[in-house]
Amino acid sequence: MEPKRRQFCVMGAAAAVAELVGCGGSGADGSTDGTSDADSSGSSGPQGTDSLADSSAATITASGDSAGTGTSSIAETTAASEDSSAGATGSGTTDDTGAVACEPSPGSIEGPFYRPDIPVRSDLDLYDDAGAPLHLSGRVVDSDCAPVVGAIIELWHAAPSPPDAMPGDVDATYDASREYRYYGQVATDREGRYAFDTLRPGWYLNGNNYRPAHLHVKIWVDDVERLTTQLYFADDPFNADDPWFDATMELDPTDTGDATHDFAV
Ligand SMILES: [Fe+2]
Repeated sequence: MEPKRRQFCVMGAAAAVAELVGCGGSGADGSTDGTSDADSSGSSGPQGTDSLADSSAATITASGDSAGTGTSSIAETTAASEDSSAGATGSGTTDDTGAVACEPSPGSIEGPFYRPDIPVRSDLDLYDDAGAPLHLSGRVVDSDCAPVVGAIIELWHAAPSPPDAMPGDVDATYDASREYRYYGQVATDREGRYAFDTLRPGWYLNGNNYRPAHLHVKIWVDDVERLTTQLYFADDPFNADDPWFDATMELDPTDTGDATHDFAV
């Protein structure tokens, strides 16, 4: 049974209000607390995540979780076993009758850093961090390849690494503090379109191995979680050895950081 969404936020005219009164919680009023710990392995949706607590523990070091407690590895392994999705998102295939169908996008692990109440915002590049710009856009479609209007896309990822950073020099972190750095959610428009402006995520250690740069994505439709997945980058040196890497979910940004991906749910 698919988890129901505890809180539903919409963009458009109500977005600013929603961010202030219920969805963002990341504003200057500090109405959202930090996070208690990195372990959300028991939660596959917002309703299952513990209430947020002390902001002093808000910034989470992925490698610390892995090396110190094994939480990250355990969470990802557990979630991975639940991932039975398969197939690739495409522009649709046509059968003998002329019907067009879009295969569901492949799911992936949620990981331990998902948090509820992600702020409603499309611009995540808010902190003057050094990093490669990434302008991600695309559509959400259904199995008939028709646009899904009003789908909620939650995006979260590790902080960027400097563009000239080398593995071994960096260990990117997730942040689920009051600022929810590099966390955002938007709703698709009338054509099923979405867009985010952010910076390319950095590498972080998962156990002894770096994970490739990746974006976490969760999509809700009509208050129901429909997809949890990850996006990767075609040129990342760690793709090949990553147990969760999926070539059908690769982004190939332009020199200016423009990248597109369509999701089918
Ligand atoms: Fe991650």
